Amino acid sequence: MILIIDFGSQYNQLIARRVREQHVYCQIEPPDIELSRIRSLSPQGVILSGGPASIYQKGSPKIDPQIFNLQIPILGICYGMQYMIDSLGGKVEPSTKREYGLATLSILEHSAIFSGVPAETPCWMSHGDVTAKLPEGFAVSASTENTSIAAAENPKRRLYALQFHPEVAHTPEGKRMLRNFLFRICGCARNWTMKSFIGRAVDEIREEAGGNGVILGLSGGVDSSVTAALLNKAIGRQLTCIFVDNGLLRKGERERVKGLFKDYLKLNMRIVNAGGRFLELLQGVIDPERKRKVIGKAFIKVFEEEARRLKGVEYLAQGTLYPDLIESRSAFGGPSAVIKSHHNVGGLPKKMNLRLIEPLKHLFKDEVRLLGKELGLPDDMVYRHPFPGPGLAVRIVGEVTPKRLSMVREADSILIEEIKRGGYYGKLWQSFAILLPLKTVGIMGDKRTYEHIAVIRAVTSLDAMTADWARISHPLLARISNRIINEVRGVNRVVYDISSKPPSTIEWE
Ligand code: XMP
Repeated sequence: MILIIDFGSQYNQLIARRVREQHVYCQIEPPDIELSRIRSLSPQGVILSGGPASIYQKGSPKIDPQIFNLQIPILGICYGMQYMIDSLGGKVEPSTKREYGLATLSILEHSAIFSGVPAETPCWMSHGDVTAKLPEGFAVSASTENTSIAAAENPKRRLYALQFHPEVAHTPEGKRMLRNFLFRICGCARNWTMKSFIGRAVDEIREEAGGNGVILGLSGGVDSSVTAALLNKAIGRQLTCIFVDNGLLRKGERERVKGLFKDYLKLNMRIVNAGGRFLELLQGVIDPERKRKVIGKAFIKVFEEEARRLKGVEYLAQGTLYPDLIESRSAFGGPSAVIKSHHNVGGLPKKMNLRLIEPLKHLFKDEVRLLGKELGLPDDMVYRHPFPGPGLAVRIVGEVTPKRLSMVREADSILIEEIKRGGYYGKLWQSFAILLPLKTVGIMGDKRTYEHIAVIRAVTSLDAMTADWARISHPLLARISNRIINEVRGVNRVVYDISSKPPSTIEWE
C-alpha cells in the first residue's frame, strides 16, 4: 500500500484516486500519525500531499521528520516538497514571483520519476514559497521559467520532490510520473481489485460481528445497497435491513427495493410504512432546514423503534464512503462547510448504543459501484443517480402535501423515463423534477388554467462539489415538457433550471 499524508490540499482525494486507478491500494492519514503506526501499515511508499500553509507559518502541519529515515520511497508534492526540503536541511523561502496555473516544465535530469516523459511538458503550479537551497544529496531534476527548482530528488535515499501537482488533469504527464513512482520506484504490484477486496472484507465483517445481530438502514441508494449486499454475503441472516418508507420516495421505489432485496436476494428485510407519520410532522413546515431536521429526527425515531423489536443486535452498519471519512477527521475541516444539513443515519449510533460497521469506509464511489457489480447487483441499481435522504420533500418548494407529492412524483418519473430513453441518464450526475408553490395561467383545450410550475433540473458533475447544468437536446426537453404538462394533473408549465453550482446548489432546498 501507499500512504498519503494529508497536509490539507484540496487535491488529496485526487492523489488517492490516481493511485487506486493503478490498482494500488492507498490510504490518506493526517500528519500527526505516529511513526509506529506508519511502520505497522508498512507502506511501500509515502506521498506527502500539498497544502495551503507555508512551512514557516506558525502551526503549519508537520509530520515526524523521522519518516525520512524509514527507508521508504517518499514523494513530496508542493507543500510536501517544501516540508521535505526544509526538514532535511534545505531552504524554502517566499517567492518573489508567485506561480499559479500552467507552466512549462523542462526536465533536466531523466530520473526514474520522469521516465518516458517528454523533455518539455505542461505542469500545474500553485505555490507562494519556493526552494532556494537543496539539502545535501539532492539534485535539481526539472525547472520552469519562474521556478528554477521545480523538481528535485535524492535517488540514493529514494526521496523525490515535485513543486507542481502531478495529480491534476492540467499536468498531462502527471499520471505517468505517479505511475513511475508507484512501479519503478516503490515496486508496487497491481493487486487492488474489488474481487480481492470482497474476500478480505467478508473475513473482517465476520470476525467483527461474531455471532451478533447487525442492522442496516437500507435506503435503496447505491451506498446502502452495496453495504447490504456485502453484509449479506458475509453474515447472511445475522443482518436485518430496515427500509423506512417515509412517504417521500420516488414512484415505485418501495416495490423496486423490495423486489431486489427481499424477493430476489432474500435478504432479511423489514419495511416500515411511516408515510403518514412523516406527512403529519411536515404539515405547515416551509423552511428547508426545518424540513430536513423534522425528517431527520423522525427517521431516527422510526428506525429506533423498529430496531428495538429485534433481539441480539449489537451493530449498526452504514455505507460511509472514504470521502466522508477523510473529511470528518481532517484537521483542516473538509471542503464541505454546512450549507444544508444532510440527513442520513447521522446521530443513530450514539443514541442507540450500537457499535458501527462501515465496510465501505475506504472506498471511493466508483469503487463502490464496481463492488456492487462484483456482488451481482444490477446496473440499474449500481449506476443510479443520488437521491437525498429527505426525499421529495426538498423538491417541493413550500409545504409538503399529498397532492404536491403526487405531482412531483409523477413529473419526476416521466423525466427519468425520457432521460433514460434519450440516452442521457449515464452522462448526468443527477436529473429530477421540482415543484413550485406558484401558479401561473395557461390554456388547455380552450379553457383557462391556473396551475403549478414544474422545474426540470439536470446536472453534470464529478463529485457534487461543483456542478453544471446539462446541455440536454432541445427535442428531448420538448418531449419532457409535453409529457409532464399532458400527464401530470395540476401542472401547466415546465421550466428548465440553467444554474450552476456554485452559486446555486443542485437540490433546491
Ligand atoms: P446540493 O444540493 O448541496 O447537493 O448541491 C449535493 C449532492 O448531495 C445530495 N444531497 C443529499 N444526499 N442526504 C444525502 O444523502 C441529504 O440530505 C442530501 N441533500 C442533498 C444531492 O442530491 C446532490 O447529489
